[in-house]
Formats: sequence, C-alpha cells, structure tokens
Amino acid sequence: MANKSKFQAIRGTRDLLPPETGLWNRVEETAHGVFGTFGFGEIRPPIFEPTELFARAVGGDTDIVSKEMYSFFDRPSTEEQTARPFEMPPESLTASGEFLDRKQKETFQQYRKGESTTLRPEATASVCRAYIEHNMQQLPQPVKLYYMGPMFRRERPQKGRYRQFYQIGAEVLGGSDAPAIDAEVIEMVMTFFDRVGLSGAELDINSIGHNAPDCRPAYVQKLKAALEQVKDKLGADSLRRIETNPLRVLDSKLEHEQPIIATLPHIADHLCADCAAHYEAVKRHLELRGVFFKENWRLVRGLDYYMRTTFEITAKGLGSQNAVCGGGRYDGLVELLGGPPTKGIGFAIGEDRLILSLQENGKGAAPPGRDVYIAWMGERAYATAVRAAKDLRNAGFSVELPPTELKFGKALERADKLGSRYALILGDNEVSEGSWTLKTLADGTQQKFTEPELLDFLEGSK
Ligand code: HAM
Repeated sequence: MANKSKFQAIRGTRDLLPPETGLWNRVEETAHGVFGTFGFGEIRPPIFEPTELFARAVGGDTDIVSKEMYSFFDRPSTEEQTARPFEMPPESLTASGEFLDRKQKETFQQYRKGESTTLRPEATASVCRAYIEHNMQQLPQPVKLYYMGPMFRRERPQKGRYRQFYQIGAEVLGGSDAPAIDAEVIEMVMTFFDRVGLSGAELDINSIGHNAPDCRPAYVQKLKAALEQVKDKLGADSLRRIETNPLRVLDSKLEHEQPIIATLPHIADHLCADCAAHYEAVKRHLELRGVFFKENWRLVRGLDYYMRTTFEITAKGLGSQNAVCGGGRYDGLVELLGGPPTKGIGFAIGEDRLILSLQENGKGAAPPGRDVYIAWMGERAYATAVRAAKDLRNAGFSVELPPTELKFGKALERADKLGSRYALILGDNEVSEGSWTLKTLADGTQQKFTEPELLDFLEGSK
C-alpha cells in the first residue's frame, strides 16, 4: 500500500472548530456591538504588508521585528518585471555584460527577488498606514477604527501563545491627546470584557513619558546607570537590553532579577510636567468612569511606538500568558510612517486568550443542538419533510433532515445524539391525515399538531 503522508496543522497554528467557534462568533459580535456604541467603525486591512512598515513602526530592536516575523520575498512576475524594468546604466556593465559595480549588482538581485513582505504581527502599523493612504486626516477627527483577525508571530508555542493568533483591536487617530480619550478607550475595553462575561479582569496602567530630553531619555539614562551598578547580577537578556532598550529590563520575568528590579528608579518620578499632568488626568478620568485600575511602574510594553499612557489587562485561568489586552498612546507614529503629525491611542485584545479564559471560567459555548430533527419515512412523507424543513429554517429554527430514510427508532436515536430538542415524526399516515407528531426528546412526551399549529407552538417555545 502506498505510504500516505498525514498532514497536520503547522506548529503554533490550529483549527478552530465547532462548538468552540460559536463562542468566537459570540465574542466577535459583542465587539462589533460594543465598539459601535462608542462610535467606532470597522477597518479590514490586508494580512500582509511591506516588511519595512513593521520594522519602522514596531522597532528594529524589538523581539517581534528581530526574531518573530514571517517575512518572504514577493517575487515580481515576469510581466511586472517587464512593466517596471530595472534601470541599468550601461556604464555599470563591462563589455561582456558583467556588473562593474557591486552595489548595482546587489540592487538588481534585490529587484529580481522582489519586495520583502511580512505577515502582519500586529495591526496598529497597518491602521496608521491606511490613515495616511486614505487621507483620513481630512475626515472629522479623531477617526475611530477597530479590527479583528489573525496575526502572526514566530514565538515558542505554549498555552495561550500561538504563531497564528487572533486580535480584536481598536485605534483612535487624530484630534487631540486629551486624557479623556485614553480613559474612554480603556472604558470601552472594560465594557466589552464585562459584556462578554469575562470575570476578574485586572487593569494595569502606567505612563512612559515622551521622547524629549527632560522626560523619558533622562529617565532611561538614570535607569541605565542604575543597571550598570547591578550588572553582575543580571541575566544575559537583561544585560543585552541595557544597551539596546533598558526599559525592557523592567519586563523581565526572571525570578532572581525581581529583587534587583524592585530597587530601580521609577519613571513616574521622572516625567516632564506635561506628561505627569497627562497621567494624573488619565487616572482622574478613569475614576470618573468607575474604571478600576492598578498603577504598575514596570509596564513598558514590548513595541517601540508607545509614549505616555500604557496599559495591560490580565485575566484568570491563563497561566503565564495572562495578558488578554495591551495598548497605549502612540502620538508620532503616523508621522514616523510619513504622514502628518497625528495623535494616536489604541489597544489589542488577544482573542485566543480571552476565549481560553472564558472557557476556564465556565463560560464556554454549549454545543448547539438542533431545534428539530425530522424523522420521515416514505416517499410522500419525504416531500412534506423537505417543505417543512424549508419553512422551519425560514422561521429561524435549526433543522436536521436526514438525507436517506431511516427506521423511526434509528432516527430518534440520531436525533438524541445530535442534542435535538424535538423530533418531528412524519410518516405517510401523518401526512395524509395532516396531523404531525412532535416528540419532546427531553421527556419523551408527544403532541399532535396541524402544520400551522406546529409553527405557532415552536415559536412560543423559542
Ligand atoms: P501586544 O501586546 O503585542 O500589542 O499584543 C496584544 C495582545 O495580543 C496581547 O496582550 C495578547 O493577548 C495577544 N497576543 C500577542 N501575541 C500573542 C501570541 N503569540 N499568541 C496569542 N496571543 C497573543 C499589540 O499588538 C499592539 N498592536 C496593541 C496596540 C494597539 N497598541 C496600540 N494599539
């Protein structure tokens, strides 16, 4: 026998299956609903973008860009190459057609390979790109957008961490940087979590200041100096980060580094006056909205575009990967990507983790049973069963119509296995008498109905 290979989903990816997808849909519908009430509209950006977009937005030294992106060269087709021929100055070639200049040769090779393209590891960069591309600064500001869909990061898979995972996110772009906007965005996520039934979600907030010499850079210098003092007690990752991004040392989860980190200077004590006032106002506006929060001076986030407000929400039942939402302010990102100076703030919820937490807390989806299983026997009964199925489905009931005839006993067994609520029994007798039998599977009781009575009864039992 030929050796058939067995395909499996790639490590870190998975199939989402019923009945769980029912829960995914409920979560997504709730997001559409709640975000709509806050005046947000949906954006669906593409799943791949130029690598350069993420490199510039998220930052070259971040884990995401340096280690985790799925990038490939999107090779131009022959027609595209003909339509946009590579300009080769004749003087860059030798008489025998070789490149004289190494740089020219590299550029040519790069052109043949195509543009570096990346499966999006996050969507804030895409939303900012779209804001610029569609001149959204001309719309009434701020522009409020939300998205949901798959993201891709080549991380080590574990519970709550996947290589293809799903985010539900929102961004507010343009207008002012009023602290009320930060507070309202956070209020929106918390409202959504509440509506979806997530219990025990905890909100941490912080301000990481901004990039002026008297604010974050001054703090980073102090932090760096303090870290130099305790260098010999730090692990390899933190040592490297002293040079690349000292703030990220605060993110360390290593047990033995915790007492050392506890002694480091706090950024809140080093914010410039404007950032300090902004942070105070954000807290006041959260209180005004009845949103509970905890200040966490170590919350720096792993993406480079943040300034001022950062926040993270953790949920129960997730083990070490317990962040279900992360976000913050990123004034300046649109400009960094070539657009006009623009304020920005947003968040992304890890949908996989949210679903896990709901399931762990007993909020999983119940397998959706059929409303009605039609047990039919006989030619004439089948024609009536087909019509009944159509009418019932049009009225919004889920109906199972077996494609081939089954003995009533067998049919009722199937109906039970599928978790059906009712079995509609249609034999040739029932059809000729115009009196249909409906069996309630939970208690085995039976009732007789005419066709219109049946529909009324089912409507009444919805
Ligand atoms: P992030 O913190 O990188 O932020 O991701 C947000 C959330 O996505 C995390 O809190 C987590 O729940 C989920 N997540 C991240 N990586 C994985 C993974 N490998 N598997 C499962 N879930 C994961 C951002 O992506 C920013 N774009 C958020 C943002 C929007 N900031 C401003 N606007």
